[in-house]
Amino acid sequence: MKVNGKNYRAIWMEGEKVCMIDQNKLPFKFSIHYCNNIDETCIAIKTMITRGAGSIGAAGAYAMLQAIYSVDGLDIVHILEKAKKQIDSTRPTAVNLFYATNRVLEAAKISKEFAINEAFAIADECALHGKLIGQYGNTLIEDGYCVETHCNAGWLALVDYGSALAPIYAAKNSGKNIFVYVDETRPRSQGARLTAWELARENVPHAIIPDNAGAHYMASGKINFFIAGADRIAANGDTANKIGTLEKAIAAKYYGIPFYIAAPSSTIDIKTSSGKSIPIEERNSDEVLFYSGKLKNGKIEKMRIANPGSGALNPAFDITPASLITGIITEKGIIQPNVEAIKKLLDDEI
Ligand code: MRU
Repeated sequence: MKVNGKNYRAIWMEGEKVCMIDQNKLPFKFSIHYCNNIDETCIAIKTMITRGAGSIGAAGAYAMLQAIYSVDGLDIVHILEKAKKQIDSTRPTAVNLFYATNRVLEAAKISKEFAINEAFAIADECALHGKLIGQYGNTLIEDGYCVETHCNAGWLALVDYGSALAPIYAAKNSGKNIFVYVDETRPRSQGARLTAWELARENVPHAIIPDNAGAHYMASGKINFFIAGADRIAANGDTANKIGTLEKAIAAKYYGIPFYIAAPSSTIDIKTSSGKSIPIEERNSDEVLFYSGKLKNGKIEKMRIANPGSGALNPAFDITPASLITGIITEKGIIQPNVEAIKKLLDDEI
């Protein structure tokens, strides 16, 4: 996608450096963060300088590449087994990370060149899949629709194009009039900071709404369509996504609003039978208790916003049961959230 007239991906490689748009600095500053080695890339994933399932997957693949570049020895499989453990321990929920490290490790068992190509292919595929999700998702969005979305499943989260935002961009580019209700997505506010930044850049009309306003807008007939991304889809269609997705799905079901998940097939974890077995990341309580923002004088400051002395709980994801999901939009088409459709999808070619 374009920033200041130049094409960017959310993450890419330059020589042995992993380069990423610093998502912690957005929307106030657009800057590139450089990771010189696997350790720095792992820190960037953990601290969410890069984030979102697809971009994390690409970061994992590139970190494996950095591990390959760091040694001259022949035993790269052994090196990559160690690297995979380190990378996989950064974040537990988005399956794209494990999918990516696993693909590079398996390729390394064939040859070093194969592993290197595989690492680059993962990011390229992610971008292509976002584009295709956009095309399929666009068929569901009618002219005049108001669409609600949660968190940021845009191009920042998926290397390029996005998952949940890709159909919105495709709808806008095909001339449809649409309006997007952007859930702010506390505690890290990926909606208010990142989705709003992306939509503004693409001139998509939108408004940020407080997280607890979703049901109100659904009840007042303002929302025609809900679309969210995914961090992991279990074999039965249960879906882990950013905390708060579940309550939106419940409200959408109650008010008869189509609730779609958009994700590439690399987000499907066929080995996990249902959402109950998906690990939910618990993040630092400071993300709830403190907030940072830009002061009127231009300074970025972090301040406590909660009662001094109170603690907080901070689950980063929740599980939306398949029964609340209307359909899953993938790079191969739109499917029902059930085990038969999911297994068939994984066997299908694009
Ligand atoms: O914790 P994050 O920001 O890495 O969470 C991931 C997400 O942004 C979402 O849950 C998103 O909807 C799916 S990622 C394409």
